[in-house]
Amino acid sequence: MIIAVDGPAASGKGTIAKALGRHYALPVLDTGLLYRAVGLAVLKAGGDPDIESDTLAACAFDDETLNDPALRSEAVGSLASRVSVHQAVRDALVKRQRDFATQPGGAILDGRDIGTVIAPDAHAKLFVTASVHVRAQRRYQDALSHGGHPDMDSLIADIQARDTRDMSRDHAPLKVADGADLLDTSDLSIDAAVRQAIALVDAQLEGRSRG
Ligand code: CDP
Ligand code: CDP
Repeated sequence: MIIAVDGPAASGKGTIAKALGRHYALPVLDTGLLYRAVGLAVLKAGGDPDIESDTLAACAFDDETLNDPALRSEAVGSLASRVSVHQAVRDALVKRQRDFATQPGGAILDGRDIGTVIAPDAHAKLFVTASVHVRAQRRYQDALSHGGHPDMDSLIADIQARDTRDMSRDHAPLKVADGADLLDTSDLSIDAAVRQAIALVDAQLEGRSRG
């Protein structure tokens, strides 16, 4: 069983994917971390994230890199969004994601193109979203709780820039996959969002089993 969870930055897709993983006892891959690892590696190598050939060497990172707390910052999120427009970067990361998705027993993946490109035949698909303001507020709270000094206006600008880049790129743009259910978490607590996600996934699985 493969469950695809897509959506824009800070929509709550990672939280929902992890909760679904516990509920259905399935492993979860946060695919955004892969693009973040490439973005950070390009930065460290002194390359330009907007130049495709500068990003190629950065795609060969080891699994340990994915535990680096530096990957979590909004700055690295923006870098990830810049490197992820390149087809060569997306190609370099496809196998890793498909191998994870097709492991025996099933898997959950969250990202931007799981239901459209990585696993278009997923058994259940969610598109998680929330208003830009709510998403910026979530990032603001996250930064505060980690001792940061966030600025609301720049968080809103970063999120809007990332949404625009992710939705308008030529390769695997962010969009609602065929067969995906929309879940707007703007006014939902985490518990309520998770309950709705489970209900939507159960209904999709039931629909499939009835044929
Ligand atoms: O993975 P994604 O960037 O879409 O978002 P996330 O990391 O799951 O959630 C971003 C932040 O919003 C986290 O601090 C969550 O705890 C919070 N959140 C929330 O307040 N309400 C929700 N319904 C979902 C997430
Ligand atoms: O957690 P958040 O939603 O802020 O970002 P993320 O999921 O870690 O993704 C960072 C960036 O990587 C996104 O803005 C996308 O540009 C890119 N990405 C992608 O292109 N395809 C994916 N499957 C996952 C992420």
